[in-house]
Amino acid sequence: MARSAAAAALRLHAFPDQSSFTASLAKHLGRDTTAIDLHRFPDGESLVRVQLPAGRHAVVVRTLDHPNAKLLEVLLAADALRRAGAARVTLVAPYLPYMRQDKIFHPGEPLSQHVVARSLRQAFDQVLTLEAHLHRITSLQEILPGKSLSAAPAVAAWVNKHAPGALVVGPDSESTPWVRAVARAADSPWLVGTKQRRGDRRVAIEFLDFEAVTHAVLVDDIASSGVTLAVAARELQRRGVRRIDAVVVHAIFAPAAKQRIHRAGVRRVISCNSIAHESNGIDCAAYFAAALRR
Ligand code: R5P
Repeated sequence: MARSAAAAALRLHAFPDQSSFTASLAKHLGRDTTAIDLHRFPDGESLVRVQLPAGRHAVVVRTLDHPNAKLLEVLLAADALRRAGAARVTLVAPYLPYMRQDKIFHPGEPLSQHVVARSLRQAFDQVLTLEAHLHRITSLQEILPGKSLSAAPAVAAWVNKHAPGALVVGPDSESTPWVRAVARAADSPWLVGTKQRRGDRRVAIEFLDFEAVTHAVLVDDIASSGVTLAVAARELQRRGVRRIDAVVVHAIFAPAAKQRIHRAGVRRVISCNSIAHESNGIDCAAYFAAALRR
């Protein structure tokens, strides 16, 4: 199919819960979205209804924080779109869940990352996401057709504008490639810590090779309980850092997480709009629009 015909065949089918990201994606692509209607029965089952006609290339837009019901509902939407004539179905899920369960940490556990990837693979031709949390695999394509897009240029642009020259700090060694990419693009120094997780809300972080600075920007892919950022901020303060900001990609933020981070001395907490949250300050929809155009 020629590029313009392929573009013409694309239709955005959006769940109703990601308004700012969806609106921005639609604007970047220069087209409207059609809403997917969602009904929850009294027993908790879901009914999704897509609006017809389905795009020949139908794009389901939904981020998947608090994922259990949402995951099933995007699978139902993919089925509805294929039955309505879509030849290709893409999932745009700015936040892709269950990626952290990428190994069997204790006997008797499932390999959740693979279970979720298998279901999505069966339903969608491709999945586009942002900064999937990949630790033991290096590319999303090892488990799913599609792409994990990088938020590094957008985060770097924020650092450049709002915290030029600040030390870019990642809380753990896993974050190294990402922190380095942000720092290089922002032309800033960088450092990562060593983190030990001792429970859902207990972590210890150490910064070796720390050289005195006054301003640091903590960056992480996910903030959930907020404990990682809070502990990292306290450790930086102990080392004499006076101004600390934090930028996260996915603002999962359990209740009280953001307050916990501020209480630890973080001045500004900013996130990408992969999950709708009051901290959203970095729009990443343009990356998805470019990937869909390709
Ligand atoms: C872990 O490896 C991630 O990169 C984040 O650091 C982690 O998920 C943050 O979780 P929390 O906010 O609960 O400490």
